[in-house]
Amino acid sequence: MSPSALLFLLAAHLAAGETTTSTTTLTATPATLTKPDHHAVTLQWSNLPDPGPLDYVAVYSPPTSGDLDYLGFLLLNSSASWATGAGSLALPRLPDLRAPYQFRLFRGPPGQNPRVDQDGDPLPDASHRTAVSGDVAHEGSGARPAQLHLAFTDEADEMRVLFVCGDGGTRSVRYGPAGRREEEEEWEEVPAVASTYERRHMCGHPANHSVGWRHPGFVFDGVMKALQPGTRYSYKVGNDSGGWSETHSFISRDAEANETIAFLFGDLGTYVPHNTYFRTPQESLSTVKWILRDLQALSDKPAIISHIGDISYAKGYALLWDHFFEQIEPIAASTPYHVCIGNHEYDWPSQPWKPSWAANVYNGKDGGGECGVPYSIKFRMPGNSSLPTGTDAPDTRNLYYSLDAGVVHFVYMSTETDFIRGSDQYNYIKADLERVNRSRTPFVVFQGHRPMYTSSNEAKDAAHREQMIQHLEPLFV
Ligand SMILES: *[C@@H]1O[C@H](CO)[C@@H](O)[C@H](O)[C@H]1NC(C)=O
Ligand SMILES: *[C@@H]1O[C@H](CO)[C@@H](O)[C@H](O)[C@H]1NC(C)=O
Ligand SMILES: *[C@@H]1O[C@H](CO)[C@@H](O)[C@H](O)[C@H]1NC(C)=O
Ligand SMILES: *[C@@H]1O[C@H](CO)[C@@H](O)[C@H](O)[C@H]1NC(C)=O
Ligand SMILES: *[C@@H]1O[C@H](CO)[C@@H](O)[C@H](O)[C@H]1NC(C)=O
Ligand SMILES: *[C@@H]1O[C@H](CO)[C@@H](O)[C@H](O)[C@H]1NC(C)=O
Repeated sequence: MSPSALLFLLAAHLAAGETTTSTTTLTATPATLTKPDHHAVTLQWSNLPDPGPLDYVAVYSPPTSGDLDYLGFLLLNSSASWATGAGSLALPRLPDLRAPYQFRLFRGPPGQNPRVDQDGDPLPDASHRTAVSGDVAHEGSGARPAQLHLAFTDEADEMRVLFVCGDGGTRSVRYGPAGRREEEEEWEEVPAVASTYERRHMCGHPANHSVGWRHPGFVFDGVMKALQPGTRYSYKVGNDSGGWSETHSFISRDAEANETIAFLFGDLGTYVPHNTYFRTPQESLSTVKWILRDLQALSDKPAIISHIGDISYAKGYALLWDHFFEQIEPIAASTPYHVCIGNHEYDWPSQPWKPSWAANVYNGKDGGGECGVPYSIKFRMPGNSSLPTGTDAPDTRNLYYSLDAGVVHFVYMSTETDFIRGSDQYNYIKADLERVNRSRTPFVVFQGHRPMYTSSNEAKDAAHREQMIQHLEPLFV
């Protein structure tokens, strides 16, 4: 190419105004996230001409995502220097999504017909892209286990641990009484079994759409066995080539314990450090923080956590499940974390059980197209209860079960699936309550997501409450 042709090209670009866009830069550091960084990314931009208060950076993972399939966004004006066309923002607590992150800078304001968030505020339309950052990945991304959480099994001398990796290759659990050195090969090792689900198993939008769907990785399930009662055990999960988790510890179950310490709540959700499709509750961070403080104060006393439905409020945005499990890991990796199903994990228009009185109760889209599948794979509760989804998706699990912890017999039910007299669930609850040994567990705590009795004047669930009272109350009196 001759020098004059080059000059001509340069002039053409200037005329089209493209040189200005090409000089705006966006950097994301560090390129590799490690635990000591608390998984925090710093975004810096410069040379943004004519900055406006609605310019924003959108967050992507994987980097091949289309512009409209962002995980969320941040307005540049939360940086004090935004009006100069340069600034920086910190983004803490980004979970490992088993794929790198990328950040893209766009000009506001939104164009025609923008999508709206749950408050009706416009979502960015991602139409004026100005700069793209390099990729940011977690150290050992996908290979090293993440999102550890414990649960009791049906056996008093066992403890189950679930965790997530990006591949389905062999992983195991190593464990031993705290204090015994792993190096001396005194720890036991058990294999962990992987399972997952696919996009086609989601039953609706946004769970099955490119905006909400992200591959969940592989959920590994390992059971530590033959534990001495009321004893602290250390454990870690992983493999030698992919890496191991940090070492965590828990107190094994003691069937003879004379007291029970339990944290009972529902509707927790998770907090995301950027705007996304929903409001995400910052209070959920304090809930986890205060439970952690109490657990630390309990020292060697065992406890159990009970989260009765409406768990991550992912509602089809897979990213929120990853945030949720990273958020609870500090408590759930050391204390059994028990759950039952809520409408926001399950309800979808063609859910199998929808009696006529429930027309206004099982409202169709509360699960965001997940139809119970992520809930069923990401947790593994005691018992065997399961129900077909009616599609080729994996069965819905973790519906009803019971366990003893200290002096309490805990029963969990599914308020989203059939509990009417004669149903499998009803028969299970009836037989379970008849078996309770009131000398061993004088207390019975019965839990489900929707209340059977309430002090609220909320009317929508009234028909559901009446059915619960009619069918289940006789089992308790
Ligand atoms: C950024 O701009 C938006 C829209 O004008 C405004 O609502 C918001 O308060 C601004 N934020 C800050 C931190 O100035
Ligand atoms: C998502 O599921 C709905 C309901 O089954 C279906 O109509 C739609 O085509 C699916 N979307 C995608 C992207 O698969
Ligand atoms: C160990 O982890 C790696 C992932 O980093 C995986 O590729 C491999 O299959 C796993 N199993 C074995 C036996 O190495
Ligand atoms: C239970 O209480 C009895 C009587 O107070 C006591 O002797 C026993 O050691 C307690 N057992 C446990 C496991 O704490
Ligand atoms: C689960 O099912 C298996 C096989 O059907 C059975 O052996 C086991 O006792 C069941 N467990 C519970 C807790 O019902
Ligand atoms: C009930 O529990 C008590 C106290 O642990 C025990 O002595 C008794 O054998 C149990 N009864 C049955 C029927 O298992």
